[in-house]
Amino acid sequence: MKVSVIGAGNVGATCADAIAFRSIASEIVLLDIKENFAEGKALDMMQTATLNHFNTKISGSTNDYSKTANSNVVVITSGIPRKPGMTREELIGINAGIVKTVTDNVLKHSPNAVIVVVSNPMDTMTYLALKESKLPKNRIIGMGGILDSARFKCYLSMALNASANDIEGMVIGGHGDTTMIPLTRMASYKGVPVSQFLAADALKKVAADTMVGGATLTSMLGTSAWYAPGAAVASLVDSILNDQKMLFSCCVALDGEYGQKDICLGVPVVIGKNGWEKIVDVNLNDDEKAAFAKSADAVRSMNNVLSAAV
Ligand code: NAI
Ligand code: 2OP
Repeated sequence: MKVSVIGAGNVGATCADAIAFRSIASEIVLLDIKENFAEGKALDMMQTATLNHFNTKISGSTNDYSKTANSNVVVITSGIPRKPGMTREELIGINAGIVKTVTDNVLKHSPNAVIVVVSNPMDTMTYLALKESKLPKNRIIGMGGILDSARFKCYLSMALNASANDIEGMVIGGHGDTTMIPLTRMASYKGVPVSQFLAADALKKVAADTMVGGATLTSMLGTSAWYAPGAAVASLVDSILNDQKMLFSCCVALDGEYGQKDICLGVPVVIGKNGWEKIVDVNLNDDEKAAFAKSADAVRSMNNVLSAAV
């Protein structure tokens, strides 16, 4: 199975590394516009094969899309990341042009690929990729909710002083500081609602920390995070290539589900070999429904400026 990763920067390289390390794909192609950058990262990663015991073939390319031909999955991470103080939304002007061009190039060589969109503002870039590619909607998946859910579980585990692997929890809605919705009511510690262990104030703080999880790291690192984003993409690619039917929060096209149409937004979906296969309705209460509608409004106004941006 072949995966191409467009953009060999922090997130693209880390996700390629995680895909190889976990032996998810037989071949990975990294592509970047910077001369020899992807080739260098690929060679460095190939030199970990005997140390990390994988057989995945990793190669790099400077903007030559023929090398990506016949990919089963293409991950788009190309674009500029956030700097401290910037929102994901402020990236739209530059990243929309990049994502549009990249989507066109990718499809010329891999018309049957599932496309995973990572570049920010991710919900709007996913919508752009869907419109630009005209692919069946199940083959366009935006990655954000998996990362936000991992951060949610991390903060919950810290508040509970528990193993993060004993926590279940999901974040839906947009992948933005004010648009994401950590579903605290449904989060559990070994199947027991976390509200039985944490007071309302502590739960509120976990939700608030989750929502600014990306911004917190951006202010610490000077650019946006990459380890958890890269690992989150690898988990998504694993479920596609190995038809695992994992239930993840992903940004997908809604056609009436969760009360929304003509928008891509984070909802729980089953991920398998055909991309996203089914949207799962988790029965939101009135407050959660209102938060989802508000999140959709914010993402829709961002989508509305797309035509001016590309
Ligand atoms: P980075 O700056 O380290 O890497 C981006 C790479 O894209 C650079 O190497 C650049 O040369 C390349 N690039 C730019 N234009 C290109 C083009 N036309 N074709 C091919 N490559 C091109 O940035 P980083 O940290 O890897 O972030 C990448 C994107 O992912 C950003 O937009 C960032 O905001 C987003 N992101 C999204 C997350 C999510 O959960 N959806 C999480 C983390 C980052
Ligand atoms: C993140 O959540 C900025 O989307 C990026 O880390």
